[in-house]
Amino acid sequence: MTENEQIVTPFQVSSDSSINYDKLVNDFGCSRIDQTLLAKFTEITGHKPHPFLRQGIFFSHRDFGILLDHHAKGKPFYIYTGRGPSSQDLHLGHLVPMLFTAWLQKVFQVPVVIQITDDEKFLFKQLQLSEIHKMARKNIADILSCGFDISKTFVFCNTKYVQHMYENVLEIQKRITVNHCNGTFGFDGSSNIGQISFPAMQIAPCFATSFAQIFDLTQTKPKDVMCLIPCAIDQDPYFRLTREIAPRMKFRKPVLLHSRFLPSLAGVGTKMSASDPLHAIFVTDSAKKVRKKINKSFSGGQQLLEDHRRLGGNPDVDVSFHLLKIFLDDDGKLQEIRRKFASGHMSCGEIKALANMTIASMLQTFNASKPSDIQIQKVQEIRAMLFK
Ligand code: TRP
Repeated sequence: MTENEQIVTPFQVSSDSSINYDKLVNDFGCSRIDQTLLAKFTEITGHKPHPFLRQGIFFSHRDFGILLDHHAKGKPFYIYTGRGPSSQDLHLGHLVPMLFTAWLQKVFQVPVVIQITDDEKFLFKQLQLSEIHKMARKNIADILSCGFDISKTFVFCNTKYVQHMYENVLEIQKRITVNHCNGTFGFDGSSNIGQISFPAMQIAPCFATSFAQIFDLTQTKPKDVMCLIPCAIDQDPYFRLTREIAPRMKFRKPVLLHSRFLPSLAGVGTKMSASDPLHAIFVTDSAKKVRKKINKSFSGGQQLLEDHRRLGGNPDVDVSFHLLKIFLDDDGKLQEIRRKFASGHMSCGEIKALANMTIASMLQTFNASKPSDIQIQKVQEIRAMLFK
């Protein structure tokens, strides 16, 4: 790789240094979420932007302003996100889009559809379908703990729901050449044929007619329904492709809100990953384990306390500060922590203790909202959901 080269696709995220998000926005042709857009959000919804927006965790978008205008006119939309079940337990990085989607649902009071791509993980990983189904079930329980309104949420596994989307899947497949697909996702002649056709499955839920038995499409024309997708930036290639073919299929282009990757505990330029469990915090980690992991996380402070008092620390590379930025919903306190840590008045131990407290309390709320078996079943039932 030459200098600054980075690869970001749904199947590979690598960079010779930290991910350069400005470059991604340029390369992908998306737009930065700026203060003007956030002010418009507040004006239209009456809500203060979520900390993930205020802190730039969700940092990029496609057409979010258009969606806000659409909503202001009283027109219908739904939210679509998803999860590939490749690990038993979710980690904090997996929670970010889910917590954010549940918050968006509260703000806009709209239906949410959540795709579980069990087919994707089978095609791309060395896993058996039976293992994947088990993980999917656990993942669905964890996702519901993020605070979704079950009456307005539909969770579906691709292997079970495919028949309802299949006509749209066909319409999509017919409009994407193998060359275009390979170029977009980095597939080649050695990819299996399931992999090459999989993108159509992740694209189909962008179109309201994939939920013909769920949304009332007798009153509203499908092409007047918009779709909002909160996702990590690596999923953008699917939706860039969707936006190319949507007009030809007479649908609106989906609207995107993109998040950065949550850094691992090893440093702010990295990505939290289930395959590096020592540097990831899982929802099932005990309070003691979380404390241990955070205590060992990368610090932006000086090694010796006396040096730290004298020279101060660098909050921008400090993992604990980063966790506070994401999960402490208090801008005033955050400013104070930044100031104190940078000037050496707050020690590394103190900032780690604060991060630990914040994460522990979030996980406590999370664990207290575990869904019942009935709720897990209910959320997967095909049933009518109103746009409003
Ligand atoms: N491919 C995603 C993953 O591996 C799962 C997914 C499916 C998704 N549909 C989505 C993510 C829509 C975001 C938005 O996790």
